[in-house]
Amino acid sequence: MNVLPELPSYLNGEYQPLAEAKVSAMDRGFLFGDGVYELLPVYGRRLFRFEAHMDRLERSLSKLRIASPLLRAQWLEVARRLIASVDAEDQWVYLQVTRGVAPRNHVMPTDITPTLFAYSSPARPMTADERHHGVACITARDFRWERGDIKSTSLLGNVLARQMSADQGAVETIMLRDGFLTEAAASNVWIVKEGALLGPPKSEHVLEGIRVELLKELCEDVGIGYNLRPISEAELVGADEIILSSASKEVLAVTRLDHQPVGHGALHGKPGPVYARLYEAYQRAKLVQSI
Ligand SMILES: Cc1ncc(COP(=O)(O)O)c(C=O)c1O
Repeated sequence: MNVLPELPSYLNGEYQPLAEAKVSAMDRGFLFGDGVYELLPVYGRRLFRFEAHMDRLERSLSKLRIASPLLRAQWLEVARRLIASVDAEDQWVYLQVTRGVAPRNHVMPTDITPTLFAYSSPARPMTADERHHGVACITARDFRWERGDIKSTSLLGNVLARQMSADQGAVETIMLRDGFLTEAAASNVWIVKEGALLGPPKSEHVLEGIRVELLKELCEDVGIGYNLRPISEAELVGADEIILSSASKEVLAVTRLDHQPVGHGALHGKPGPVYARLYEAYQRAKLVQSI
């Protein structure tokens, strides 16, 4: 049953139950997917890496030429008010800005008021089984558009990609463009090679996940090598470990890729040591970096 949960929401300055939040059918978010969003994790009712999420929201807005509609302090106030009215210590705050309502025309209208929407919901963390055993992923060609750097609500490519893995009982679809790793449908992807964490370079094909910078810091803290550089399909398939990162997954070990166990030797098909250390470091960061 796809019944909307009873949650508070914010829409254009008004707080109201999520099920009652309504926007115009002429909203460009609805007609064109002309908008951006963020998903911020909340631990113990405190926002994790809030400033980094706001930096990215502002970058995404500016790439779409939408003027930033709220100050950070105002977003913070909205988020905190929503968090306060949800009955859970750990939550996910969703923020969305669309260009707004206008007669349908591909050309960006001027003098238009953005539509602002936000809600918070109880976090749905990975299960103990997924943490303990790792998860399965499949691979696919990256058939999405070439502006994966924008955290856009135009997510049809990601929806199609994610469904491919869902259809096979896997948690993510890891994508390759021209034989090189980009990202997964809703996560960044990392491999471990010779003890170091490797991710693809920053580009217009990959979303700069908030955890890209966080993992760099965590690797420095715990003494794990970290490098962003092109990763070939052969390196992905032959990796010692594969790790996903996202707001909702934090870091997550991938232990089966296209139905084959990941890794070598005793760790074949099991979460590896780099994952374990990063997961621990991540849990510590949550305690000290949430506001
Ligand atoms: C396509 C895509 N790549 C990467 C990520 C990871 O980004 P973050 O760490 O900011 O959650 C996401 C998050 O939802 C995503 O949708």
